Amino acid sequence: MEKEVGPPNTDYDRFVVRPLTPLFGAEISGLSVNELDDEAIKRVHEAWMDWKVLVFRNQDISSDDQLAFALNFGEVDRHPYLDAGKSEDISVLDNPGSPRFDRAYQAAVSATSKRELKAFGRWHTDATFRERPPYSSFLIARILPSVGGDTVWADMEQVYEGLSADIKSLIDGRTATHSVRKSSFVHGMSPEEKEEELKRFPPQHHPMVRTHPVTGRKSLYINSAFVDRIDGLSEGEGRELYRELTCEVHRPEYQMRLRWEVGTLSMWDNRCAQHYPVYDYYERRRMERVTLAGDRPS
Ligand code: SIN
Repeated sequence: MEKEVGPPNTDYDRFVVRPLTPLFGAEISGLSVNELDDEAIKRVHEAWMDWKVLVFRNQDISSDDQLAFALNFGEVDRHPYLDAGKSEDISVLDNPGSPRFDRAYQAAVSATSKRELKAFGRWHTDATFRERPPYSSFLIARILPSVGGDTVWADMEQVYEGLSADIKSLIDGRTATHSVRKSSFVHGMSPEEKEEELKRFPPQHHPMVRTHPVTGRKSLYINSAFVDRIDGLSEGEGRELYRELTCEVHRPEYQMRLRWEVGTLSMWDNRCAQHYPVYDYYERRRMERVTLAGDRPS
């Protein structure tokens, strides 16, 4: 059942949330995520479904606590590239602190041929090149640069809602091909190695409009890191549509931006949001993430 569009709830009995934007992203204060009973977890889940990205400040918790909190909401999913060969359920994202990463990435992006759909910065939904992409991540800041290194999220339900009726009818019921082929994970591999990766992860045809399994709401489900083509359209039409849709994701009205502090934990829902880590910093930034397994998008 679709809910009315309008500002989500802010009162969840056990806590009050402070919206970070009118419709998207909220901060919950006064809770320590390692001290929650079942009822509180239920309320956190409600708030999460309403706000899509939740932020908890001042979490003085261990990695095990972070993992235990995340496991209230699903099962761990290890990233096939970032966590390859590791046995821990926590992914460590530790950057020594140089925008070099961004330059390398930008170089990879500009190296894509004219025929490919360009990636825009690092906007992505996690691992949509897989049949069942992970549905959420729980990310905590452990070491931060003195300034910079924010994360931005885009509310893909608002993006979908804002599309014209013509565009909606063009994308409703249509799929897009998501592939690891254009991603930074395979950048630098030989053509043969890339072929092997494509056998491991065959391209997936996910719906462009995804219906959230819990809320029933629709969102635009494409992202510039992995979408390789729009199915059923000519290359030119597909490219034009892709460009138009990815431009919508860039509207600040649909976004929230988090300035991290050490001990800030965020949890987000990949089924209706995408994110962008801002690579603008010059000092070390260490984040730790637990990722949860998801369903096949429908
Ligand atoms: C991610 O893309 O999952 C990490 C986001 C971040 O480091 O800000």
